[in-house]
Amino acid sequence: AKQWRGVLHEYADRLDISDKTPIISLGEGGTPLIAARALSERTGARVYVKFEGMNPTGSFKDRGMTMAVSKAVEHGAKAIICASTGNTSASAAAYAAHAGITAAVLVPEGKIAMGKLSQAVAHNGQLIQIQGNFDDCLNIARDLAENYPVHLVNSVNNDRIEGQKTAAFEIVEVLEDAPDFHFIPVGNAGNYTAYTRGYTEELERGATTKLPRMFGFQASGSAPIVRGELVRHPETIASAIRIGNPASWELALTAREKTDGYFGAIDDDKILLAQKILASEVGVFVEPASAISVAGLLERAEAGQVPAGSTVVLTVTGHGLKDPQWALRTEDGGQVTPTIVPVDTAEVASVLGLVAER
Ligand code: F0G
Repeated sequence: AKQWRGVLHEYADRLDISDKTPIISLGEGGTPLIAARALSERTGARVYVKFEGMNPTGSFKDRGMTMAVSKAVEHGAKAIICASTGNTSASAAAYAAHAGITAAVLVPEGKIAMGKLSQAVAHNGQLIQIQGNFDDCLNIARDLAENYPVHLVNSVNNDRIEGQKTAAFEIVEVLEDAPDFHFIPVGNAGNYTAYTRGYTEELERGATTKLPRMFGFQASGSAPIVRGELVRHPETIASAIRIGNPASWELALTAREKTDGYFGAIDDDKILLAQKILASEVGVFVEPASAISVAGLLERAEAGQVPAGSTVVLTVTGHGLKDPQWALRTEDGGQVTPTIVPVDTAEVASVLGLVAER
């Protein structure tokens, strides 16, 4: 039977790889583009969700990591390093394990989600918690890569961006054109840059008639691009995008310019509300950082910026199981506890509000 072979095999002709490149793949990419009827009804647009949580380690990072690790191994690397808010570390550790090399991962102390931490440990990553934030981790990772025999696999490595651009190829293949709008979370702005590149290549080869307007969103407490200045102490419950000094800041500004795009900031409570709407009305469970795409769409549609009938794609970047605690939080900050009932069918029926037939 035929199965999806991962982005390097599927898009070999559109990536800088040769028969000398060892392809290190876990079958990433080929993720579903889901028609989101509830979001279409709420906004009047035709809304699709690109569910990147369906990648092998549960986030979009795998698209870039297959390329970065394959190229690193081609160039003889025995060790890779990255800074991470969690997903990059999970992905780097998994691909390094598959390649039989080592991965060192630097994460901000106490600020990454449990699922992601577990992944890095499970895949045997050399995990170090730094007593600082993501931006501090990235500075150290860059220093180490410059002065020691370790290969940097953060998105400042162009191979990462190259792998990630394939998500735009997949969307164009399904829609048979680019969407009118593309909504996406922004941390380092690597993925915003990657999609813009992917869509640009599709336009250049005549597969589309337009570029989508690229709409990127940061959490209000971590919104350096929106505010136009570095944020020294970024804060947000969306830990994946808790970043104050985005590595691809300049590239992102160029991409916004080129696509007539937009950058906005969203408060944490709106992020959590959007996570709930997506999970309960569409059936797609994502981590908080990913839900910012949904929150951004609802806000911009409300503001009249998304004309009725527009085709809209939202990238949701990571799976809800990565950081499940937020789904169990009640509005007053307590914990959801499912009702407890004795072993008794009638009592269960009563709790469910069911009335017996006849
Ligand atoms: N969404 C998720 C779930 C992420 O993990 C990240 C970045 C982003 C969005 C933002 O993507 O940085 O390309 O703008 N996570 C990085 C990490 C920083 O270390 O896992 P970006």
